[in-house]
Amino acid sequence: MKVVAFNGSARKDGNTAILIRHVLAELEKEGIVTELFQLSGKKIHGCIACYTCFEKKNQRCAVTDDVLNECIEKMIEAEGIIIGSPTYFANVSTETKALIDRAGMTARANGNMFRRKVGAAVIAVRRAGSTHVFNSINHFFFIGEMIVPGSSYWNLGIGREIGQVENDEEGIQTMKTLGQNMAWLMKKIYE
Ligand SMILES: Cc1cc2nc3c(=O)[nH]c(=O)nc-3n(C[C@H](O)[C@H](O)[C@H](O)COP(=O)(O)O)c2cc1C
Repeated sequence: MKVVAFNGSARKDGNTAILIRHVLAELEKEGIVTELFQLSGKKIHGCIACYTCFEKKNQRCAVTDDVLNECIEKMIEAEGIIIGSPTYFANVSTETKALIDRAGMTARANGNMFRRKVGAAVIAVRRAGSTHVFNSINHFFFIGEMIVPGSSYWNLGIGREIGQVENDEEGIQTMKTLGQNMAWLMKKIYE
């Protein structure tokens, strides 16, 4: 079994990545293969609403000059998908939104191709707005017929400068519990 995690932060290896790694560590303890794919520095732009995905139905986005189809391929091959985002103006980052819109529309054009995969959101935040980010990412999972595990709190960690999330004891525990619950759920579904 495999979980692919996307870090939608503009900052590579920042707080979102740190939080995601705590989730991945728990998954790996349960023998699940993991991959962290960071969007920082990679070209990814928004949906152009061409609807070619609905014409071709080939599990690909028609826009091919950026990293999006590589992300879709990783989602297809994994049983679990984590989408992590920092909180930017109480919402997801631009990179995360591009991923959600284009992977989401391509999935809808192809019979909800991520259905019954397990999905989890991970959010870094300095102060406020993170529950909106959490909801935005969960909208992607739920409309795609995906299965979403809970944790001991909403999946967020608090910190501004890189590394500060490690001081958020409850946030780190939330990530660990999320990883444990995600592994438990994946084994129930796929083993
Ligand atoms: C453009 C921008 C907008 C931000 N907006 C918010 C916000 O609305 N609420 C908040 O609490 N923090 C906000 N932050 C702070 C980040 O969410 C915070 O630093 C987070 O830890 C960054 O995660 P990263 O290290 O993975 O990039 C913002 C940061 C940036 C760069």
